[in-house]
Amino acid sequence: MAELRNIVVLTGAGISAESGIDTFRDAGGLWEKHRVEDVATPQGYERDPALVQRFYDARREAVQKVAPNPAHEALARLDREWEGGLLIVTQNVDDLHERAGASRVVHMHGELLSALCPICERRHHWTGPLIDRPECPSCEARSLRPDVVWFGEMPYQMDRIYAALRSAHLFVSIGTSGAVYPAAGFVSDARELGVKTLELNLERSEGSHWFHESRQGPAGKLVPEWVEELLGTG
Ligand code: NAD
Ligand code: APR
Repeated sequence: MAELRNIVVLTGAGISAESGIDTFRDAGGLWEKHRVEDVATPQGYERDPALVQRFYDARREAVQKVAPNPAHEALARLDREWEGGLLIVTQNVDDLHERAGASRVVHMHGELLSALCPICERRHHWTGPLIDRPECPSCEARSLRPDVVWFGEMPYQMDRIYAALRSAHLFVSIGTSGAVYPAAGFVSDARELGVKTLELNLERSEGSHWFHESRQGPAGKLVPEWVEELLGTG
C-alpha cells in the first residue's frame, strides 16, 4: 500500500472495555451511575468538589488495577513496526495505550494519572487521591484538580490532531460511540480531506454511515486482525 503512509487512529472507551473499564453509554455504563452534570462539568466541580474528587480518585485507583488487552497491544505493535506516520488520538483518560507500549499517543480528554494545578497551570503525574487537597509540587497551592477535560472545556492538542488528520491517508476509529464532539467530527473532516476511513466498533455507532468501511465486533478481536492485515503478516 505505497500510497498509505500516514495513519490517525481515534480510540474511545470501547477499546478499554475488555480490560474491565466501564464505557460511558453502554448498558451499565458510567453515565447510568453518575450524572454527567455532577462529575464531568466545571459547574459540577464548583458545586461539589469533594464528590468530583472522589469520583476520579476511584477511577484513578481502579485503572491501576487493570491491564491492557489485545487491542491495546496490537496498536502498540503497530506503533513499533509501522514506518510511516502514526498518531493514536485517545478520548480515554486511562493509560492502557502507554502500558501496552505505545508512544505516539495524544490524550485529548486528559489523563487520570495526571493532576492539574489551576493556579500555576502545571500538570503533574499523579497516582494517589486528590481528595485530601495535596500541595501542588510546583507552587504549593492546595487546589489540584483531576487533569481531565470536562464538558464545555477545550480538549487538549487539537492543533496537533488536525495537522495529523490533514496529512493522513487512513483514519481508523476504534470503540467510540461518536456521541461527543469534536472527536465525533473527525471522520467527516477526514472524508472531506479525501482520507480513507475505517470503523472498528462493537456495534454500529452514531457515525458509522460516515465510514468507507465499518466492521462490528470486539476490539480485542478486530484490532489485532486489522493490524495483521496492515503489516502484511496476516
Ligand atoms: P458536547 O456537546 O460535544 O457533548 C455532546 C455529547 O456529550 C452528547 O451527545 C452527550 O452524549 C454527551 N453529553 C453532553 N452533556 C451531557 C449531559 N448533560 N448528560 C449526558 N450526556 C451529555 O460536549 P461539550 O460540552 O462540547 O464537551 C466538549 C468536550 O468536553 C468533549 O469533546 C470532551 O473533550 C470533553 N468531555 C470530557 C469528559 C470526560 O469525562 N473526560 C466528559 C464529557 C466531555
Ligand atoms: N470493543 C469495541 N467496541 C466496544 C466494546 C468492545 N469490547 N465495548 C463497547 N464498545 C463500543 C460501544 O459500542 C460504543 O459505541 O464502544 C463505544 C463506547 O461509547 P461511549 O461509552 O460513548 O464512550 P466514548 O465514545 O469513548 O465517549 C466519548 O464522551 O463522556 C465523554 O469524555 C467522555 O471520552 C468520553 C466521550
